[in-house]
Amino acid sequence: MKTQVGIIGAGPAGLVLANWLRKYGIESVIIELRSREYVEGRVRAGLVEQNTKDILKELGLDARMKKEGIVHDGVYLSFDEERVHIPFGELTGGRTISIYGQQEIVKDLTDAWLQEGGQLHFETKATKIVDFDTKNPKIHFEKDGEEEIMECDFVAACDGFHGIGRKTLPHKSFQSYDITYPFSWLGILAHVAPSTDELIYAYHENGFALHSLRSETVSRLYIQVDNDESVDNWSDDRIWSELSKRLATPGFELEEGPIFEKGITPMRSHMIDSLQSGRLFLSGDAAHIVPPTGGKGMNLAIADVKHLVDAFVDFYTNNSEVKMESYTRIALQRIWRAQDFSNFMTKLFHKQDAHGSFTYRLQKAKFDYLKVSRAYKTTIAENYVGLPFESFEM
Ligand code: PHB
Repeated sequence: MKTQVGIIGAGPAGLVLANWLRKYGIESVIIELRSREYVEGRVRAGLVEQNTKDILKELGLDARMKKEGIVHDGVYLSFDEERVHIPFGELTGGRTISIYGQQEIVKDLTDAWLQEGGQLHFETKATKIVDFDTKNPKIHFEKDGEEEIMECDFVAACDGFHGIGRKTLPHKSFQSYDITYPFSWLGILAHVAPSTDELIYAYHENGFALHSLRSETVSRLYIQVDNDESVDNWSDDRIWSELSKRLATPGFELEEGPIFEKGITPMRSHMIDSLQSGRLFLSGDAAHIVPPTGGKGMNLAIADVKHLVDAFVDFYTNNSEVKMESYTRIALQRIWRAQDFSNFMTKLFHKQDAHGSFTYRLQKAKFDYLKVSRAYKTTIAENYVGLPFESFEM
């Protein structure tokens, strides 16, 4: 098998990359470890930043998102039962977010890729990436028990935190940075109309809570739990009762409904300071993990891909390696910005220390400042909807 760009991973990063390269006549093949059902069914966040919306529109892949997604022009931030509204459009010159599940984007991108004859091999395991320090890198893979080799000009590893891309990057070529947070999120999906028109992030003395949604009839909610918690300890009644305590503000009523999905997600920040080695490039979770407070994960992955597309197009049309060489430097500016914002949101709204402690008082001081400062609200708004690409040095 031979192609120009060999892509490992059919998540948002790999699929946007393949669809985008095709627009420029650059060939690629995707291999994916899991089955199509698994990839399209896995529950992930559902917050789509303005930049991501713009990219999907440019690719002509936003039709269903425009129809079924829900545009949000703001967010509610709540602390000890008080609430502040952050109006995005007004503070950022009209930028907004949309709520549309990541797996719906994955379905749309997969359909588009396959409909026009794109190659995507599910249940195919990349076992080795070799010769990426030459002009002929190769991906060794196993499909249906057979070993095969994909020869390519470049390898794009969009294969997540546990993928082979990150493991293959020469260890001496980068430094890594990690934070493990002392709490996790218990997330639910429930058949009930959302009790809010926009997302609510809340600090409460029992811990963080988030009210998100998927549609007019499906709500997505999360609560902070200890790292060693098990879903078995959380009956539906206990979850609803905790959510309504933590999300409470005067006049707010939380509607309850049947829960059809429950899961615990640990929280971590992970970074490496090089996303490339020779002709191997990493994008998305293969290169960085942010805690989900702020919903940056998928958006960052797609932003990485924008820079990778710029680099490949520059190479194939101008025979230039300049953008390729600066991929890491350019992508890292936004990734560090998002790491900082995600860490800020996590620390502001999670219970980190005893209620009333010095740490708590610093959190509360930030929230009290937010109530009175348009500048502080703007900082949150512009980071939340995502800074435009032009904000960073290219
Ligand atoms: C979600 O809808 O799943 C979601 C929204 C916002 C976040 C995290 C998750 O910050």
